[in-house]
Amino acid sequence: MKIIPDSIPRLVHLLLLAELFVQTLSRPTHNRSLCDLFRSMVPQVDKLMNFSKSRHALTDEEFREIAAADHRLDSLPEIKLTATDLTSMKMNESVSQLYHFSDLFRLHVDWLKSARGNVSLPTQPTEGASKHLLQLTHLLNSTLHQIHEEVPQTPPLSLPVVSTAFDALVFSIEISEKLQVFCFWTKSSLRILQAQSHCPRR
Ligand SMILES: *[C@@H]1O[C@H](CO)[C@@H](O)[C@H](O)[C@H]1NC(C)=O
Ligand SMILES: *[C@@H]1O[C@H](CO)[C@@H](O)[C@H](O)[C@H]1NC(C)=O
Ligand SMILES: *[C@@H]1O[C@H](CO)[C@@H](O)[C@H](O)[C@H]1NC(C)=O
Ligand SMILES: *[C@@H]1O[C@H](CO)[C@@H](O)[C@H](O)[C@H]1NC(C)=O
Ligand SMILES: *[C@@H]1O[C@H](CO)[C@@H](O)[C@H](O)[C@H]1NC(C)=O
Repeated sequence: MKIIPDSIPRLVHLLLLAELFVQTLSRPTHNRSLCDLFRSMVPQVDKLMNFSKSRHALTDEEFREIAAADHRLDSLPEIKLTATDLTSMKMNESVSQLYHFSDLFRLHVDWLKSARGNVSLPTQPTEGASKHLLQLTHLLNSTLHQIHEEVPQTPPLSLPVVSTAFDALVFSIEISEKLQVFCFWTKSSLRILQAQSHCPRR
């Protein structure tokens, strides 16, 4: 679980590159319904980012200790994205992938909610994240319909049974850190998609 915090500056850099790239594109006509969909996704991602930053009420010391535990959720996507991937993005492929990843995160967060509930940890933050991920998948689903793309089906997951509060915390941290990477990636992708679709800047 070494992605964070080292990769955050790199992710911020990526977001800036996306901004720069966006400014080089001209903006003639735009597709209103598509632009509205992309625009509605942004606040959902911002709220998710809030959850992914939460430290689950741990002290720095506890956090480091738990974060040092091995990561175990192979079913969560490891998002690796370069500036080249961003600038050569195809709308159909990236919307499908955004949908697929947000659906995966939603399933993991729902599982985490059940895990935390079982060991009497607060489930409130996971409920919020689950709600925003659900909204995001709905919006991405509508986008896929708009661009006449198939909605990818998420195969059933087999996630472990969680029996201790420690395990639930390890998984909470793993999910929130990967979710943070997902949020940066989604924000960058949305900026590019908005530019490619010539959406007006706010
Ligand atoms: C993030 O959380 C803080 C504190 O919980 C809250 O004040 C802020 O409005 C939240 N931001 C978003 C975008 O939800
Ligand atoms: C996505 O669209 C491009 C053209 O814009 C096309 O070449 C490519 O095959 C499409 N990919 C999929 C998976 O449909
Ligand atoms: C996706 O959108 C279609 C049409 O807009 C709708 O019929 C379907 O129920 C939606 N599915 C999900 C999972 O949101
Ligand atoms: C917007 O784009 C979608 C998908 O490409 C298309 O179905 C729709 O007709 C477009 N609307 C306009 C106003 O161009
Ligand atoms: C939580 O408990 C229920 C009921 O015992 C069980 O079915 C479920 O798998 C548990 N969830 C996790 C993530 O361990």
